[in-house]
Amino acid sequence: MFEQDIIQILEKSVKGEVKLEVPPDPKLGDFAFPCFSLAKDFKKSPVQIAQDLAKSLHKPEVVDRITATGPYVNFFLHPGKVAKNIISEVLKEKKRFGSKDEGKGKLVAIDYSHPNIGKPFHFGHLRSTIIGESIARMLECRGFKVARLNYLGDWGTQFGAMIYAFLTWGNHKDLDKEPIKYLVSLYVKFHAEAEKDPALQDKAREWFVKLEKGDTQAVELWGLFKSHSIVEFKRIYEVMGAKFDSYSGEADSARQVEEAIEHVRKKGVTELHEGALIVRLQGFEAPLMLRKSNESSTYASRDIAALLFRVHELHADKVLYVVGHEQAQHFQQLFALMDILGHPKENFMHVSFGLYMTAEGKLSTRKGRIVLMEDVLKDAISLALKTIQEKNPDLRNKDEVARSVGVGAIVFGDLLNDRVKDVQFDLKRILSFEGDTGPYLMYTHARAASIVEKAKKQKLKPSADVDFLTLKHVTEDRVVKLLAHFPDRVGDALQQFKPHVLAQYLIELGRAFNEFYHACPCLQEENEELKKARLTLIEAARQVLENGLYLLGISAPMEM
Ligand code: ARG
Repeated sequence: MFEQDIIQILEKSVKGEVKLEVPPDPKLGDFAFPCFSLAKDFKKSPVQIAQDLAKSLHKPEVVDRITATGPYVNFFLHPGKVAKNIISEVLKEKKRFGSKDEGKGKLVAIDYSHPNIGKPFHFGHLRSTIIGESIARMLECRGFKVARLNYLGDWGTQFGAMIYAFLTWGNHKDLDKEPIKYLVSLYVKFHAEAEKDPALQDKAREWFVKLEKGDTQAVELWGLFKSHSIVEFKRIYEVMGAKFDSYSGEADSARQVEEAIEHVRKKGVTELHEGALIVRLQGFEAPLMLRKSNESSTYASRDIAALLFRVHELHADKVLYVVGHEQAQHFQQLFALMDILGHPKENFMHVSFGLYMTAEGKLSTRKGRIVLMEDVLKDAISLALKTIQEKNPDLRNKDEVARSVGVGAIVFGDLLNDRVKDVQFDLKRILSFEGDTGPYLMYTHARAASIVEKAKKQKLKPSADVDFLTLKHVTEDRVVKLLAHFPDRVGDALQQFKPHVLAQYLIELGRAFNEFYHACPCLQEENEELKKARLTLIEAARQVLENGLYLLGISAPMEM
């Protein structure tokens, strides 16, 4: 935050772009400026230049000392002034602290969550929902407009199979009882039977063609599967607090596929191959299939239609796809084709992620080892409730807090990992109130909130109008500096669409806060000025924890 002040002063004395470093050893200051590249310009040695600059530079307000060590100019911030500056800003900006308007006027569409109807909401959809929502919030925080798009998987040959299976073996009574479980069991039966009798696959394709042509019976059943599924998905979203601007999925874009194909065909890149319409793309062995030989649309062509809509009708400046890395090639091809159509690849990004792993291997829905995300969420919430009942039996609205903690634990447990890596899924660990966990941070936040609450009884309120120079303890200094880093960390996390950068920062802040909490009593402090300054620091730290957790998609209760 104070980097800019120093850079501005340096820019008055040296030519070119000024870049500061953060010295590995705090004894060398908060920032250092290397002088190597200036030797030519100044016709002096870097060591001499550093010494001269240290003497001649005008000190910015928050800088206490400027010294030179070898070829570096070292800047030491004034702890009291930094504290005053930063804490006042947090208090003034509140929930807005950390936000910027760099994205003003730009719209980013995020395609995330996107479960498939008639199938369970699986871990991939959970990860996508968690990562997508965090990115959406960070973008909003930086001034972008965001369109949250839930591109439902509601079209494709599998629905032909589902319809056939239902008509052959199914009934409405069982469907109404536990729709998704029942549909999955029918689907599993279909595949088992199809292995014995491959002709069933033709039946599935036939029924899908009927569905595409608008056959009443097919459309009705499909609509039923879809509405049942949406009810289940919405239950999960309700628990997670997820909301979308649109649920328009593959079925909707299927209707625009022919128009999209026409658009591609005009570029002269399509060809017919064994009755199917394909595009061969440079650098890819497999062609992109736009239309099957039986006239059906494909996953790829539906995505092309959807993306053209997002660019032409929605006017999205950027489109992000939060999807598992197994679909990497699909998106590379999709974006390569868009490039051919005149839409630069850089405007689209596959924000990919790895798998959830358990001790037994991949957490999967295949081979009957179905892990229902709804059950995982329920387990997390009831485990959280158990801990709360032990720790704080008198807490009001325990159920609501347990929901926040359970969901927050899962969200944080996911986002702490670099999204591209696989995640070890261990419910017990991520629900622990100690260690690198969501509940740890939420508890730290509630602890800070409770001190501010107690202070009210002593008629004390956080205020920027206190003597921050009294904050001299190393642990206070550390918290202050971390608060100052918050806006930049949000920027860093957004740069790569990697929420873990922010999650890891929050763990650092939580740790620093707890060290400060144990080392520096607040309400028992006898020096009134120091007590007030600490209280204000506590409130600032609480606010930044709240803001940071919010950006990850976690709501932090005031009491736990
Ligand atoms: N429904 C798909 C699946 O579960 C993911 C959809 C991703 N979004 C897209 N535009 N292709 O695998």
